[in-house]
Amino acid sequence: MGGGGRATGTHAKHEYRPVYQTSLVDPAVFWSSAATAIDWEVAPTQIVDTMARPVTRWFPDARLNTSFNALDRHVHGDTAIEEGGANRPALIYDSAMTGARGVFTYAELLEEVSRFAGAMARLGVTKGDRVIIYLPMIPEAVIAMLACARIGAVHSVVFGGFAAPELAARIDDAEPVLIVTASGGLEPGRRVDYPPIVLHALDLAESVAPRNVIVKQRAQFPTIHFPAPQAATESLPSSAQTVAAQWLDWEDAVRDAPLADPVPVDATDPLYILYTSGTTGKPKGVVRDNGGHAVALAWSMRNIYDVGPGQVMWAASDVGWVVGHSYIVYAPLLVGATTLLYEGKPVGTPDAGAYWRVVAEHKVRVLFTAPTALRAIRKADPDAALAHDYDLSSLRALFCAGERLDPATYEWATDVLLADRPDCPVVDHWWQTETGWPICANLLGLQQLPIKAGSASVPVPGFRLRVLDAEGNPVAPGTEGNIVIGLPMPPGTLTGLWRDEDRFVRSYMSAFPGHYLTGDSGYFDDDGYLFVLGRSDDVINMAGHRLSAGSIEAAIAGHYAIAECAVIGLPDELKGQRPIAYVVLKSGVEIDPAQLRDELIARVREQIGTIATLNDAVVVTALPKTRSGKILRKTIRQITAGDAYEIPSTIEDPSVLDALQRQIADAKLPHLPESSGQA
Ligand code: COA
Ligand code: AMP
Repeated sequence: MGGGGRATGTHAKHEYRPVYQTSLVDPAVFWSSAATAIDWEVAPTQIVDTMARPVTRWFPDARLNTSFNALDRHVHGDTAIEEGGANRPALIYDSAMTGARGVFTYAELLEEVSRFAGAMARLGVTKGDRVIIYLPMIPEAVIAMLACARIGAVHSVVFGGFAAPELAARIDDAEPVLIVTASGGLEPGRRVDYPPIVLHALDLAESVAPRNVIVKQRAQFPTIHFPAPQAATESLPSSAQTVAAQWLDWEDAVRDAPLADPVPVDATDPLYILYTSGTTGKPKGVVRDNGGHAVALAWSMRNIYDVGPGQVMWAASDVGWVVGHSYIVYAPLLVGATTLLYEGKPVGTPDAGAYWRVVAEHKVRVLFTAPTALRAIRKADPDAALAHDYDLSSLRALFCAGERLDPATYEWATDVLLADRPDCPVVDHWWQTETGWPICANLLGLQQLPIKAGSASVPVPGFRLRVLDAEGNPVAPGTEGNIVIGLPMPPGTLTGLWRDEDRFVRSYMSAFPGHYLTGDSGYFDDDGYLFVLGRSDDVINMAGHRLSAGSIEAAIAGHYAIAECAVIGLPDELKGQRPIAYVVLKSGVEIDPAQLRDELIARVREQIGTIATLNDAVVVTALPKTRSGKILRKTIRQITAGDAYEIPSTIEDPSVLDALQRQIADAKLPHLPESSGQA
C-alpha cells in the first residue's frame, strides 16, 4: 500500500486502483500505516472516531507537535531523517521584487522559529490563542506560522491583498491576541503599506483589540519608530491609541527571547483557521487540526507529488491561500524536503521568464501553479522562448490547481513550454481550502495514469467521490451533477468552521445527508476521470482566487445610488472569471454610468481588496427575483452567457427577463457569444 514512509524518488511505485480501494474499504488500516511517517508524542491507538459525525476526528487519542515534525526531527540526533538533516536547506527565499535571495537550513529555520515562538510566549501568547498573520511573501510569514504551531497557538493568515474591512471581519471572528504584520508588501510599481490597513481594521473591528501588534520592518519602506516594549504609545498614529494594542518592532520582540520548546497538543486540536469566501459576505473560518493534517500532507508529498528529503518543491502561490499553507509551509517541511518562497509575479517581474529562472536557479523538482499564471506567461511569451533559455532539467512535474486547467493551456504547456520534456507531466489536480489537499489528481508517487486534458484525473485515496442529481441520486457517467464526498472525509480535511457549527452543517452537510457538498459541479467519464466544470453556487473564481458574489454585492449596495444589485462571474480569457455587477438605481437618482462604474470599482477595491476588481457595472431596470425576494442569479448567469434557460417557476415577474436580456445585449459585454436563447 502507498502508506507511510519517506519518499526517495526511487521507490517501487504501486498501482493506483488497489491503493484507492484499500483507502475506502479499510480507512483505519490505511491511515494508521500513513501515520508512521509522523513522530508522535503519544502515538495513536484509535485511528478514526466517526461517532462525532458529521465531523470526523482522526487520531483522537494521539498527541504531537506539528512544528517539531516540520523542523526538530530533521535536525536532532535519532530522529533526524538522515545524516546531514540539520544543514539541508529547508527554505529558499527568492524575491523578484527586491532581488533578495536567501536559504535557511533546517537548523537555522528551527532557531528562528523557536526564537519567535519564545517571543510570542513572552508576550503571553499561549496554547489555543489565535494569532492573525498579515504578512507579504517574506520568510517571517513561514517563521510566524511555524512558531504558532510550536506553542499550540492557532494562526489565521490573511492574504495581503485583502483590504481593511476583510481583515476586520477576520479579527472579529478569530479574536486574536496578537497580529503579526510587516511594513508592507511590494506589488509591481507600487508599495502596499500594511500598518495603516491594520489600524483601519482595528478601528472597524468590534471585538476586543489584540494585546499586541508585531511589525516586521522592511528595507524598502520608511522606518517606523516604535516605542520600546512596555512603553507608552505616543509615537504611534493617534488611532492606535484608541485600540489599546501595543505595537512592537519584530526585532525588539525577538531580542533576548528564549528559544521555545514544542508544546505537544492533541491531534484534534486546531492548528489554524483559514478564512475563505462563502456565498454570503461573511467569510468562513475553515478549521484544520494538527494530527490528520500532518499525516495527510506527508502522505500526499510522497504519493501525489513524489517529492522527498532534499528535493525542492515550489508552490507558486501565496501563504495567504490554502495552497501556500499546505505546500509552501507544512508539507515540504514535514517530509524533510526544501520549500521555496517566491515574492513576485509570473510576468512583469521582470518578464515572462521569471518562473523558469527560479526553477533553473534553485533546481526545482515540482512546480505547482495556477493555470492563470500559465495563461499570463503564454500571452507574454507564446513560443515559450524565455523558458527555453533556461535549464529546466530538474523539473519532474508541473502541477496546476486553483481553477480548471483548460485544454488549450494544458496543450500549450505540454506541446510548447515543455515540448522537449515528455518525461515532465503537466498535472491538473482539484482541491479546495476546505479539503486542505487534493481531492482528485494523477498521483505521481503511484504508477502514473494517462492524462486527459480538461480532467483533474481520479479521486485521491481517502476521498469517496460521487456525482449526484438535485434529488441526491447518483448520475450516470457523462452526466453533470453536484460533486460530493461521502463521509468520513479523510484526514487533513476541515474539522469545522470556527465557532460556527450550524453554518458548517448548513453549508456542507445538509444538502445530501452523509455527504460533504463541494459546491462544484462536474461529471465522471466512463474511465472514472472527473471533469470539474465550475461552481454550482455563487462563488466566483478569479485568477485561482475565490471571491464571494455576496460580499461584492454588499460593497456595491452601500453606494448611495444603488437600490439593488446582482454580481456574477463573467468568463475571462486570462483570469478564468471576472466579476460583473448588474445594478438597479434608486428611483429619482441620476448618475453618469461611467462615473457610477468607476465609483463602484473603487468601492469594491476599498472594501474587499485590490484582488477583487470589478470589471463592469451595468445599469438595468430590474433584476429577476423569486416571489420571496431572492435574486435569481443562476438565470442571470445563463442570460449573460447566452445559454438557454428555463423560466423559473418561482419567478415573481417573468417580464423582467426579456428586459434584462435586451439590456445585457445592449451592454455589449466582451467575450460573450452573440446569440442568446431561451429553452
Ligand atoms: N497584496 C496587495 N495587492 C495585491 C496582492 C497582494 N498580495 N496580490 C495582488 N494584488 C493586487 C495587484 O497588485 C493588482 O492590483 P492592480 O489592479 O492595482 O494592478 C490586483 O491585486 C489584481 O492582482 P492579480 O489578480 O494578481 O492580477 P495582476 O494583473 O496583477 O496579475 C497574474 C495577473 C495572472 C500575473 C496574476 O493574477 C497571477 O499571478 N495569478 C496566479 C494566481 C495564483 O497563483 N493563485 C494561486 C491559487 S493556487
Ligand atoms: P480555494 O478554496 O480558494 O482553493 O478554491 C477552491 C475552488 O477552486 C474549487 O471549489 C473549484 O471551484 C476551484 N478549483 C480548484 N482547483 C480546481 C481544478 N483543478 N479544477 C477545477 N476547479 C478547481
